[in-house]
Amino acid sequence: MQRMKIIGTGSYLPDLVVTNQMMASVVETSDEWITSRTGISQRHLSSGEPTWFMAVEAARKGMEAAGVLTEAIDVIIVTTCTPDYYLPSTACIVQAELGASKAICFDLNAACSGFVYALDMAARYLQDLSIEHVLIIASENVSKLVDYGDRSICVLFGDGAGAVVCARAGQEDDSALLATQLGSEGQNGQVLVSRALKISHPFLADGAVWPDRFGSHEDHTLTMEGQEVFKFAVRVLADSVLETVAKAGVDLAQLRYIIPHQANERISDAAARRMKAEPEQIISRIADLGNTSSASIPLCLDELIRSGRLDRGDMVAICGFGAGLTYGAALFVY
Ligand code: ACO
Repeated sequence: MQRMKIIGTGSYLPDLVVTNQMMASVVETSDEWITSRTGISQRHLSSGEPTWFMAVEAARKGMEAAGVLTEAIDVIIVTTCTPDYYLPSTACIVQAELGASKAICFDLNAACSGFVYALDMAARYLQDLSIEHVLIIASENVSKLVDYGDRSICVLFGDGAGAVVCARAGQEDDSALLATQLGSEGQNGQVLVSRALKISHPFLADGAVWPDRFGSHEDHTLTMEGQEVFKFAVRVLADSVLETVAKAGVDLAQLRYIIPHQANERISDAAARRMKAEPEQIISRIADLGNTSSASIPLCLDELIRSGRLDRGDMVAICGFGAGLTYGAALFVY
């Protein structure tokens, strides 16, 4: 098994910061309700930047940190459930902007678990000795899916992008991806839904329109069964981290950090109790960023590295969970 290391990270956040007080000017809510139920104080929302633009900005910073030139990128994976176009893929737009002409490019949609799925996929690509560098970018404008008249949804989400450059680790490197644990529960897909375009063409017979697979979704706005998501998230977050730790034959106490998908402070707290992790192991940027879907984990990782709080040799677990339903954890030595 070839070993993989993260050699550079980058991120992008829009300048527009929307506080809980500002939210209270568009829906009936309060700072007290939002903070006590979710831990969120503010979120960055797109000031108009498309998803591809945020992806390019994050990628540039990640490649600069890695010291990798665009010509050296073999694969670009963009994880997003909020692309600007059905086609071309966001990854192909990023390729064009960066000039990464030899890269193969595609988008991956595993909702909020996308980054963990992409990291697992990068490790598999790097088994192929002709592949040297995989660029993963998680870029999400979740605000596009949000109904700003629905107070139970709109306070939760934010926009942003995070990127990592992955390379094969040498014999001399301690860095390695130690284990991954991915899963999907499609039978519970109805708890988080955003609908795409409906079938509509001039030859469609009357009454040929099929009912909505998930209820009565007329448009793309996100619907969520909050308490079901909550229970699912706590279960899979704790269990998948513990499974990666067991697979790798290490002890949870050896982990310097656990970076959960940033959905809700209470989900992270409950999962930490379930897996018996120490509070200082759990990383949270939820107060400042809200839920940025697949971008949340690389946004945390980049901040840890740039602030000097993560050292080479530190062991880290990441865990995503989200629509699908999907989940995934990865354990690595940075
Ligand atoms: N401000 C004030 N009141 C609100 C708000 C708000 N923003 N939102 C809902 N309420 C009200 C509801 O209308 C309801 O009022 P009612 O009792 O008069 O009917 C009351 O608060 C309680 O509503 P619940 O939905 O039962 O509140 P709950 O305690 O479950 O908290 C929450 C809601 C925060 C959404 C919680 O269920 C949760 O965090 N779930 C997980 C959601 C999540 O993280 N989703 C994303 C993960 S997956 C992904 O990233 C895509």
